[in-house]
Amino acid sequence: MSKSTDLPKAELVPADPTPRRRATAESMATRQREISVSEFFTKNRHLLGFDNPAKALLTTVKEAVDNSLDACEEAGILPDISVEIREISPSVARDANTASVASRYRVIVEDNGPGIVKPQMPKIFAKLLYGSKFHRLKQSRGQQGIGISAAGLYGQLTTGKPVVITSKTGKGRPAYRIELRIDTKHNQPDVVKEDIVDWGTAGAVTVDHGTRVEIELVAVHRGGRTGVQEYLEQTVVANPHLALTYVSPKGERRDFPRVSHELPREAQEIKPHPHGVELGMLQTMLQDSPGASVKQVLVSDFSRISSGVAEQVCKLARVSSRAPADGIHGEDLERLHHALGQVKVMAPPALAVVPIGEALLVEGLKRRFSRADFYVSATRPPAVYRGNPFVVEAALAYGGELPLDEPAEIMRFANRVPLQYQPKACAISESVYQTNWRNYELQQPKGSLPVGPIVIVVHLASVWVPFTSEAKEAVAHYDDLLREMKLAVQECGRKLAAHIRARAHAQREEMRRSLFEKYIPEVAKALSDITGVSADLLEKPFLAALPKFVRIVDDSRIPVPPDGTAAVGIPTEPARLEESKKKGRTKRPAQLSLLPG
Ligand SMILES: Nc1ncnc2c1ncn2[C@@H]1O[C@H](COP(=O)(O)OP(=O)(O)OP(=O)(O)O)[C@@H](O)[C@H]1O
Ligand SMILES: [Mg+2]
Repeated sequence: MSKSTDLPKAELVPADPTPRRRATAESMATRQREISVSEFFTKNRHLLGFDNPAKALLTTVKEAVDNSLDACEEAGILPDISVEIREISPSVARDANTASVASRYRVIVEDNGPGIVKPQMPKIFAKLLYGSKFHRLKQSRGQQGIGISAAGLYGQLTTGKPVVITSKTGKGRPAYRIELRIDTKHNQPDVVKEDIVDWGTAGAVTVDHGTRVEIELVAVHRGGRTGVQEYLEQTVVANPHLALTYVSPKGERRDFPRVSHELPREAQEIKPHPHGVELGMLQTMLQDSPGASVKQVLVSDFSRISSGVAEQVCKLARVSSRAPADGIHGEDLERLHHALGQVKVMAPPALAVVPIGEALLVEGLKRRFSRADFYVSATRPPAVYRGNPFVVEAALAYGGELPLDEPAEIMRFANRVPLQYQPKACAISESVYQTNWRNYELQQPKGSLPVGPIVIVVHLASVWVPFTSEAKEAVAHYDDLLREMKLAVQECGRKLAAHIRARAHAQREEMRRSLFEKYIPEVAKALSDITGVSADLLEKPFLAALPKFVRIVDDSRIPVPPDGTAAVGIPTEPARLEESKKKGRTKRPAQLSLLPG
């Protein structure tokens, strides 16, 4: 049966010729009512990354894993996370948009984080827009307070099953297991069942604290660039401190042991920066401070505003610094807002953002692409967009077993979270497209990605990542972000070009050298025949003169990547001598070293 015959057809109905009574303001008023956020997102689930069953599976895993990582880091715990996707019943539905067959899966994500106190469990998992990260300026993976409850909502919508949460907050404390539904009309949790369970004693390890999230949903399991496995593999690149176990729906288990035993430095929470504040936000801050003076609000609610700077701002705005904050309106408010943008203050504190770091980024990249020739990374100094501090870092893997003739692979990360959808809408991809890779010895068809054995990683770390939508799939095109992204990518590009040029040079020199090496014994033999002097003796001055013809330099001049990987393709001198010995040519003076200039 063809796909189109499966779909219900819409019927065209002729317009009704009899005039009908139209709505009045009063009749419309009877239909106007509040919309709960859960109802809104049930209808608009695509806004949260649940627009098709394959993406729904990825988004569910992603929301749970991101939360686990955030919780572990915040609590100072090295994360041990396990992800399992179990197929409950195959082929339960067919997706009309993609024609793929969806199955019923159970997603289980377990962490060794701090756990969640019992009274908070219902709201966290069964109330949309409830979380601990939205109101603060601190780098974290989550920021909206919507992710995990949206996954639960999708599960409930497609299977009718409640979300099951098990959590324990410490040794000797009970583990609570709660089954939850979302009352979508009121955006409120319904506790279906709660128990105290003997959790975490299965197997050899006893769990002292952690959270286990189980969501049943109708979804499609897919591999490839937008699949769950890809997400997990990229997650370990950006989180070298994570130990991860994944059990796929086929029952295959993969372990990713951690490569760093150090937690990333804890990001500092900061206050809004005066240069990034919007008028409406300033108004709210002033209104929310009854009893305080304008100066007190400026000093206590903003970063980088000292008492002296606050006086300066008030003077510029022609507003009394002692005026009550909640009495500032109209033109006074506008002048105050303008003055905040004008006053000279230090950039926001860089401690609020935590990049992965050049060395660990390379380690992470090797976790995924262990067989490249060359790795390089660059972390930019902190910068600011709309008053929010951010750091961009980039890394490249090149050569080795990476595919030769394909467009570069780009891995995009925001606060250590891989971004797999909407590449065209993302400022990160834009920064790669806008870079002229021909400057760095790579081919690049016009308006395309560079072509060659290359993987490009770009990570944006910020206290607030400006995503293009609530699904957190692509980074918005702010000029300040794009500029830093391009600079980071270019810095890596320059180091890559040096490597490629050095390797090409070394190869040319190698060819010249082997030509000389081929003919020196011949010439020596011919001379020996004429002069009667031993050929061995005659070869020596030729070999001694070899450095004059073939550029031979000190080892230390090879551009060595930061991780110390030697550029493959340039045989080291011991390896060459070994090879020559095998071929019966052992007379090369040992101090010679053929390296690029
Ligand atoms: N595994 C967990 N361990 C401890 N706390 C958790 C865990 N998962 C969620 N939380 C808490 O629940 C809150 C809500 O999570 P949720 O994913 O809905 O929102 P978020 O992470 O704050 O933001 P986002 O919507 O961007 O993901 C979090 O802010 C966090 O405080
Ligand atoms: Mg979250």
